[in-house]
Amino acid sequence: MRLGIISALHEEQQGLVEAMQGPQRRSHGMRDYTLGTLWNIDAVCVLSRLGKVAAAMTASILVEKYGVTHIVFTGVAGSGDKRVKVGDIVVAEALLQHDMDARPLFPRFEVPLTGLQRFATDLELSTQLAGAAEDFLRDDVSSVLKAAHIVEFGLQHAQVHRGLIASGDQFISSAAHVNQLKEDIPDLLAVEMEGAAVAQVCFELGVPFTVMRTISDNANEEAAVDFMRFVQTVASPYALTVIQQLCQR
Ligand code: ADE
Repeated sequence: MRLGIISALHEEQQGLVEAMQGPQRRSHGMRDYTLGTLWNIDAVCVLSRLGKVAAAMTASILVEKYGVTHIVFTGVAGSGDKRVKVGDIVVAEALLQHDMDARPLFPRFEVPLTGLQRFATDLELSTQLAGAAEDFLRDDVSSVLKAAHIVEFGLQHAQVHRGLIASGDQFISSAAHVNQLKEDIPDLLAVEMEGAAVAQVCFELGVPFTVMRTISDNANEEAAVDFMRFVQTVASPYALTVIQQLCQR
């Protein structure tokens, strides 16, 4: 097994790259790939940057050039459901591209010529990751995050959810917009900008993958401010500790 770990932003992956044993940096297509081991698992970490094309490019190179056999995307997302709160973790069961619309040629959300609106994640990998996230929230959250952050972000009540994540080339920052998406996609749990692109690439290349997102904001008018504060303070320890738990299982 060789695990590819993608995040969009430096802050989301910083801790993981620092934890790598025997790291070797390779540059390709304007991205830095760090090869090494994480808790005895052969791994490659890379930043995709934001958006679906950036994520698709990165996932393809991870598989085709660096030979990863499994991919985990870890990062933050906006909430797409009232029960999904800032600080909660969402592990995707399926991903959908909410800005895909080739009507009248194909139904809304269907990725042309795949016959699919939703790409399913790998059940085994998702179950392992959700278990690792549950362990983190139960046992480790207070030891890796300062008490101030726990209170500020309400992390003491954080939960793990599993279900649908939607991706699009839009940072959602209006209540009207996220409410409309929720109306159109009733089982939506979270919105972000990369996961469904990685999902399509992995589906087409036959690579098992999953996506884990920590909720940084409510995709409303305050989203940009909440997102920045969350990413700078708590996103990195979440990813580091959950992936550590996953690798040690
Ligand atoms: N990632 C984190 N928050 C987001 C939002 N509100 N919209 C899109 N992607 C996000």
